[in-house]
Amino acid sequence: MTTINKQWRLKARPVGEPSAETWDYTETEIPTIIDGQLLIKVEYISIDPAMRGWLNDAKSYIAPVQIGEVMRAGTVGEVIESKHEKFAVGDYVAGHDGVQSYAVSDGTGLHKVDPSLAPLSYYLGVLGMPGMTGYFGLLKTGQPKAGETVVVSGAAGAVGSLVGQIAKIKGCRVVGIAGGAEKCKFLVDELGFDATIDYKNEDVKKALKKTCPDGVDVYFDNVGGDILNDVLTQINLHARIVICGAISNITTPQQ
Ligand SMILES: NC(=O)c1ccc[n+]([C@@H]2O[C@H](COP(=O)([O-])OP(=O)(O)OC[C@H]3O[C@@H](n4cnc5c(N)ncnc54)[C@H](OP(=O)(O)O)[C@@H]3O)[C@@H](O)[C@H]2O)c1
Repeated sequence: MTTINKQWRLKARPVGEPSAETWDYTETEIPTIIDGQLLIKVEYISIDPAMRGWLNDAKSYIAPVQIGEVMRAGTVGEVIESKHEKFAVGDYVAGHDGVQSYAVSDGTGLHKVDPSLAPLSYYLGVLGMPGMTGYFGLLKTGQPKAGETVVVSGAAGAVGSLVGQIAKIKGCRVVGIAGGAEKCKFLVDELGFDATIDYKNEDVKKALKKTCPDGVDVYFDNVGGDILNDVLTQINLHARIVICGAISNITTPQQ
């Protein structure tokens, strides 16, 4: 077994988009585990919008990644050594073990996943954080009912694409807002959305009037900003609005 751990660490906090200057690539020895620890060979790393927020030195729902630390990221990997009573060699685990090839863990935040039920990468997608976010956000907060109109932004993304499909299963009319003709075509042709709005090439407010003639009953908001404002102009009485994320604040921050 190799003894080298390849790691990406935070070198400097970015302003705006991260660049090569944001990161340090390091190679370190894989530490020997002690009682209560396990060693994970990381197989999959998730790249999520939330990671940009973790780079800011600001109060949030989770502590920022510190300068010099391995970048935090959702991961799935295989346990290759264990001195932990709950995890055995050969187990597969999901957690937040960072952008590195091997991780030592005391088990905090880890849960076992079963590769015989689904490919391992699915535990970072539909069976992981984005899937849970879409499922519970839509069903618990959005409470869609058959026949209602559900609009979802960031519709071709990890969360939005699942939200639209779940809403279709629930018998709703689903309109997805996404950037570009290709993504919009994919939402209709492959995922069964009823209609789409290409916010990069269409007037969103006008397109909402056209695609949601009976107004919007549930808005699942992944982007915030102007699109949120536009959808609110078409919102129905007793509508539910799921404030999931505001990625426009990251990609096009207000000055
Ligand atoms: N509350 C929670 O627990 C939770 C959990 C997971 C995610 N989230 C949030 O949910 C949102 C989606 O996450 P995800 O994992 O699905 O992301 P993702 O798969 O990375 O998709 C994000 C998409 O957002 C679109 N986008 C980017 N900038 C935009 C802008 N200025 N205006 C409109 N659309 C823009 C882009 O698609 P286009 O090409 O279509 O522009 C991008 O591909 C994020 O805001 C994230 O922070 C929240």
